[in-house]
Amino acid sequence: MNSSHHFDVIIIGSGTAGLTLALQLADDAQIAVLSKGQLEEGASLYAQGGISVVLDEADSLQSHIDDTIKSGAGLCHEDVVRFTIEQARSSIEWLIEQGVSFTKDGVTSETYHLAQEGGHSHRRIIHSADATGREVETTLLSKVQAHPNIHLFPYHIGIDLITSRKQLGQQNDNTCLGCYVLDIKTDTPHTFSAPITVMATGGAGKVYLYTSNPDVCTGDGIAMGWRAGCRVANMEFIQFHPTCLYHPKAKSFLISEALRGEGAKLLLADGSRFMDSFHPQAELAPRDIVARAIDHEMKRLGDDCVYLDISHQPKEFIESHFPTIHQRCLDFGINMTREPVPVVPAAHYTCGGLITDIHGRTDIKGLYAIGETAHTGFHGANRMASNSLLECLVFAHSASQDIKQRLPFTKPSPTIPDWDASRVRPAKEAIAISHNWDELRRFMWDYVGIVRSNERLFKAQQRLNLLQQEISEYYSQHHITSDLLELRNLADVAELIIRSALLRKESRGLHYTLDYPQPDDDSPLHDTVIAGKS
Ligand code: FAD
Ligand code: SIN
Repeated sequence: MNSSHHFDVIIIGSGTAGLTLALQLADDAQIAVLSKGQLEEGASLYAQGGISVVLDEADSLQSHIDDTIKSGAGLCHEDVVRFTIEQARSSIEWLIEQGVSFTKDGVTSETYHLAQEGGHSHRRIIHSADATGREVETTLLSKVQAHPNIHLFPYHIGIDLITSRKQLGQQNDNTCLGCYVLDIKTDTPHTFSAPITVMATGGAGKVYLYTSNPDVCTGDGIAMGWRAGCRVANMEFIQFHPTCLYHPKAKSFLISEALRGEGAKLLLADGSRFMDSFHPQAELAPRDIVARAIDHEMKRLGDDCVYLDISHQPKEFIESHFPTIHQRCLDFGINMTREPVPVVPAAHYTCGGLITDIHGRTDIKGLYAIGETAHTGFHGANRMASNSLLECLVFAHSASQDIKQRLPFTKPSPTIPDWDASRVRPAKEAIAISHNWDELRRFMWDYVGIVRSNERLFKAQQRLNLLQQEISEYYSQHHITSDLLELRNLADVAELIIRSALLRKESRGLHYTLDYPQPDDDSPLHDTVIAGKS
């Protein structure tokens, strides 16, 4: 039975971005926070390396800005980079006020250990050993759960945004009025309405067969926002993390770049190093370069993986700095204090997303996007390590300031039609959905992966067209399920990635194509922008 819920603000997503925003607004507004799984589940929970912030006296904001822009291969929006990096310290101080505990350096009781990662020219990664995301996510969640104005809806998946254009037929106005939501436990659609809706739905790593991302990362917010009319930018820039654990039973476990920051070396099966022949910064080169070098060596030698060796560090150092990774490797019979760890690249981060301004505002009135779902211009063509959690925090803060200026909401909310399920029937079997999930993720990996070409992209596009027809027919005839909603969203995200990749006739940052192997430095630098669907 469809029911309606009304709030001041609906936040779709309970990762770092969503929870930070909820806490910032909760004293002034009634907030709904939705999550399609358990509340803590999302990329944030699994973040290992940490959060970049300038704390060392020898470091400077300008150096962090320069490194970010260099990694972004010419496409970072410089004003956004400066804005984000200038807010980093206060965002970290806010986390510490909430109770987040970061690893200290042992020199004084007040100073923090700073790690090093690829692309950074200084040690500037504040962290909680190798489980920074878990510490941040669980601390913020405990605060959110204790706040009387925050109403939590786990296992509620957003279906589609409700807009004045689509649901009320107002052609000249596109205002977001809320979201249709499926309660996964009871299979019931609901109407959630609010003057403000915020997409904090994370990235889309699951569009690829191999990914470091948890299952919830299916690009729902990007797909929903695009279908409702938002422009989307730079979807061709999918970041592949160079080092995910290679083991048949390890579904998606990351081996943090912070290991390379502590001197870990990448090795071929014969024990030889190779990164120094690809880049002067060797293992600490930006991620796109390391991932491509590994892919190149694996293809050249026909090997299934390469190896990451940190066994030169003392056992006690490894156990105290990387307790989670050390234990997980031991679970699979690999003792990283004594032997190299087998690793492969995997899809890790979605640099593109719904276009927003510096306050997280999208093209649709009343709709914001923050965190990995958004394209703010901060990351350009390649995100630098540990700059993502930073962006989540900074843009949650700036969105909250913008939303607060609009409070209190006094206008009565319009009447919204209920979700219409009168013309669909229950599906007889789910095999079509699981088959299409597998097919989509496999051809995206094979044809739209680390190394692309026009031929591969066109092949992927042909297959996607057929899949999208099938999905659309199935969707119009059957009751919705979370698997079906995610498949439809993954297909939309795949379309955005392929179309963006075909539009970029050069290799830059994370987009590498055999047909145009060099950056096109003669043409003006540009973002790849795709107009909203409706
Ligand atoms: P997420 O944390 O992914 O949360 C998304 C939320 O949206 C979830 O609650 C999910 O249930 C919900 N959701 C999605 N779709 C729907 C829907 N349709 N309806 C309802 N709810 C929905 N970055 C760093 O800066 N430093 C690191 O050390 C680091 N390490 C990483 C390690 C791993 C293994 C991974 C995968 C990523 C790492 N990253 C790191 C990247 C970073 O963790 C993510 O970019 C960031 O956590 C994204 O946060 P978010 O709040 O945008 O989304
Ligand atoms: C890592 O720890 O290697 C991940 C860091 C990141 O993605 O920023």
